[in-house]
Amino acid sequence: MTSVLVVGSGLAGLFAAVRAVEAGVDVTLVTKEALTESNTRYAQGGIAASLFADDSTEAHLIDTLRAGAGLCDAHAARVLCEEGPARVRDLIRFGVDFDRDDSGLARGLEAAHGRARVLHAGGDATGAAIEGALIATAHRRGVHVIEHTMLVDLVVDGGIVAGAEVQASDDTRSVRRADAVILATGGGGRLYRHTTNPAVATGDGVAAAWRAGAQLADLEFIQFHPTALVAPGAPLVSEAVRGEGAVLRNARGERFMLDVHPLAELAPRDVVARAMVVEMAAQHGVPISLDATALGRAFLESRFPTIAAACHAAGYDWAADGVPVTPAAHYWMGGVATDVWGRTSLQGLFAVGEVACTGAHGANRLASNSLLEASVFADRAVRAICDEHHDRDDTARRAGSVRTRYGKSDDAPAIADIASSPAEEDEGNALPGFSRDALQGLLWDAAGVLRTGEGLEAASEALDGWRRPPTGPGASRGELEDANLLDLGRLVVAAAIAREESRGAHFRSDFPVERQELAVRAPLARAREDAV
Ligand code: SIN
Repeated sequence: MTSVLVVGSGLAGLFAAVRAVEAGVDVTLVTKEALTESNTRYAQGGIAASLFADDSTEAHLIDTLRAGAGLCDAHAARVLCEEGPARVRDLIRFGVDFDRDDSGLARGLEAAHGRARVLHAGGDATGAAIEGALIATAHRRGVHVIEHTMLVDLVVDGGIVAGAEVQASDDTRSVRRADAVILATGGGGRLYRHTTNPAVATGDGVAAAWRAGAQLADLEFIQFHPTALVAPGAPLVSEAVRGEGAVLRNARGERFMLDVHPLAELAPRDVVARAMVVEMAAQHGVPISLDATALGRAFLESRFPTIAAACHAAGYDWAADGVPVTPAAHYWMGGVATDVWGRTSLQGLFAVGEVACTGAHGANRLASNSLLEASVFADRAVRAICDEHHDRDDTARRAGSVRTRYGKSDDAPAIADIASSPAEEDEGNALPGFSRDALQGLLWDAAGVLRTGEGLEAASEALDGWRRPPTGPGASRGELEDANLLDLGRLVVAAAIAREESRGAHFRSDFPVERQELAVRAPLARAREDAV
C-alpha cells in the first residue's frame, strides 16, 4: 500500500489526507500544534467558486488573472476555476454547512470579483466551519493524526524525498518514512511585525523544501490584507465587510479610494493596501477608519459575528463608529514551486495550499481563492500520487515539467548568492544572535507594502549579520522556527531586490511601474548535489 505523510492540518492538509484515505492510501498527518490550529481556522470571507447561474468559469478566471497582474500561470488558474465547483461540492459532502438564503447557497461579494461568488459559513466563520467538518471526516475515515509535532527537515535519499524528520513537543526527534510527502504547512506571515496569521505560520515547509533543494518561486509576492483591526493580534476584518458596503475613510473623513481606483474600496487588495499606507503616512501614521455604520447593528452582528466579537473585545462599537484598521501580512503567493498536480521539482515531494506556488495567484491573489486553491490542488496531488503508484517511471517527465515551467528565463530576475546560509551557531559566535522581533520589524519596514532597493539592500546586510539559531538535536521548537524565519527572510529580501519593477503585491518606489519583460516567474533553488 502506498504511504503518504501529510504535514500540516489546514484545509490543504486535511483535504489531502481525507482524499488519500478515500483512495486507499495509508496516511499519517503530522501537525505542529493541535489539529485545529492553522490559518484556515481564521479564514472569514469564504471560498470563491462559479456555482451560480449568472457566473461561469471564464468570468472567475478573468477576475483571477486580472488580480494576478500578468504573473498568473494561466493553466493553473484555469484548473483552479474549472475544478473549484466540484471541490466545493466535496466540502459539502464532507459536512460543511455553507450559509443559505431564499435562493439556495448564500454568496458574498469581495474585492476584484466581477460578481458575487463567495460562499460563507457561520456568517464570517467559514474557515472554522470547513476545518471542523474536515477534522470530523478525517477522524471518521481513520486518518492517523500526530499532533504537536513539527517538521524539522525533509529526508532525501539519492535525490528522492523519502520522509521527514519531525520533532515532538518534548523536543525528541524521529524520522517518518513515506512513499510521498505532501507539504501543507501554510505560509510565513510571521515574517512580519503586523500579520493576520496565527503563531504557527513560520514558513516551516517552504524553508525545509528549500534546504532539501526543491525549487521555490515568487517569494517576493506577499499579500497585505488591507483591513486588520488595530488591536492585539491584528484580527482580520474580512473584505466581505467592504463587499457589503463598508467604506474606508482617512483622518479627514474622506473616502480616499474614490480617487484611487474605479472600484474604490473593492479594488484589488494590493491597490487598496498601498493606498492606505500612503494615506496613513500623510496623516502621521494614524490608522484608516473602516466605516460600516451604514450596514446597521442587526445586520453586522448576524452576518459578521466573529468580527463583531473582535471589535467588541477591542472596545470598539463598529455599528456606531468607524473602527481603526491597517494593512497586515496575510498571504504568500510564493512558495514551493509545483505543477498543476502539486508535484515539486523533487521526486516524492508534493506541496499544496499556501506553502505551494502553483502560479494560480500570480502577483496578487484574488480574494477567497486560497481555500479554493487548497482543495483543488490537494485533490490533484492525491490523484497524482495514486497514479504514480501504478506508473513509477513517470519521474523524468515530472521533474522536467516543473523545471520547464519554472526554468530560468533570460529576463527573470536573477537572485544572487542564495545558496549560502547565514553562519550557524558554532562558527558564527562572533555575530549577534537572532531576534525574531527584530526580523519582523526589519521585514515590515523594508519588505512590506512599499519597498525600495536601498531599504532592501540594508535589510539584506542586517540579515546576513545575524547568527543562525541552533537547529541540531536539542534545539527547541522556537529555535527551529527562528532558523526557518531567518532563512526565509533572506530569500524574500533577495527576491524583492532582484525584481526591479512594481507588480501586484510587490511595489518598489524606485521602480514604480510594471516592466513587460519581467512578467515571468522567478525561480529559486539551492544547489544540491543529489537533486534529481
Ligand atoms: C477576507 O475575508 O477578507 C479574507 C479572505 C481571503 O484572504 O481571501
